[in-house]
Amino acid sequence: MIWSAQRAQTPALASPLVTRVFSGIKPTGPVQLGNMLGALRTWVEDQHRADSFYCVVDLHALTIPQDPEVLRRTTLELAQLLLAVGIDPTVATLFIQSDVSEHTELAWMLECTVSFGELRRMTQFKDKSDDAEFVSAGLFTYPALMAADILLYDSDEVPVGEDQRQHLELTRDIATRFNSRFGETFVVPRATVPKVAARVMDLQDPTRKMSKSDDSPQGTILVLEELGQVAKKIRRAVTDTDNEVRFDPVGKPGVSNLLSILSACTGGDPAQLADQYDQYGPLKADVAEAVVEYLRPIQERYAELAADPSGVHALLAAGADRARALAEAKMITVRDRLGLPVR
Ligand code: AMP
Ligand code: TRP
Repeated sequence: MIWSAQRAQTPALASPLVTRVFSGIKPTGPVQLGNMLGALRTWVEDQHRADSFYCVVDLHALTIPQDPEVLRRTTLELAQLLLAVGIDPTVATLFIQSDVSEHTELAWMLECTVSFGELRRMTQFKDKSDDAEFVSAGLFTYPALMAADILLYDSDEVPVGEDQRQHLELTRDIATRFNSRFGETFVVPRATVPKVAARVMDLQDPTRKMSKSDDSPQGTILVLEELGQVAKKIRRAVTDTDNEVRFDPVGKPGVSNLLSILSACTGGDPAQLADQYDQYGPLKADVAEAVVEYLRPIQERYAELAADPSGVHALLAAGADRARALAEAKMITVRDRLGLPVR
């Protein structure tokens, strides 16, 4: 194990001078390139300029039926992957949501301040409930738990992909309403969405977002996938027939998606990168190489970490202790504001 759990045992002091960042990711299925470029890339950058809290949101995973053994395994694997992509537990606080019970406690209280109508408008709920056989009440109240995650820590910024913007707007509304009804309690957070690759699209159907829970294995690149396979999927990505390389997400979604991915992996502006190509073949070859070289060190690091799961468990326990110290303090204020006994 490379890191010591030492630093993570010290509770962070909420300081108005330091920006607080919070984000979460669900341990449901393998992490795909969209998660990586849309969210995790920013997490790694943010940890060096802000007091950052990163959370594996296992309680959110329960909104959809899960096999307990699979959930246990994927939660640990996701934590290992977050370390492999570069989350440094000596500077950021990495923890598992269910280790800090204040998340569920605050979620209930927030559920009682958000309306049925507000929750019903959430597009993610509509998308996920439309063709589901069983729609849990938790799937419906999911955004209140997400708001609790964020508001417990006085978070200023929440790095997420484009698809989470609506949940962040609701979190802001919940915080603002609570503050005006019960007195200043929560920091009103803002979403930070990356300029490029905020919405990585499926390689086979570039009109829908790449997703780990998808039924489109050829259109989805997994972060831990065999690298030869990664290159093959990119070379087979759907483009269009006019063979003109131009950044135009509406008119040319497939080509533009490849340019966004290239831009996120190598830097540079997608529209300017387009000028360097006049055919799809060379563009695809460069995207494949860039993604493979981006993923290679992550995969190597993951293999090292997976060899020592007990070290990862210790880091997560220390992260949870640090998070809990802040969460407990916030809950004293919240309970008091609501007229509940303060323990
Ligand atoms: P999830 O896998 O749904 O827990 O999402 C974790 C993070 O990845 C969230 O911030 C999402 O907004 C982001 N994300 C998921 N899919 C994509 C995608 N296709 N493009 C960009 N960001 C994404
Ligand atoms: N809802 C987010 C997603 O589906 C995951 C999440 C849960 C989250 N809690 C959060 C993201 C708090 C940011 C902050 O991707």
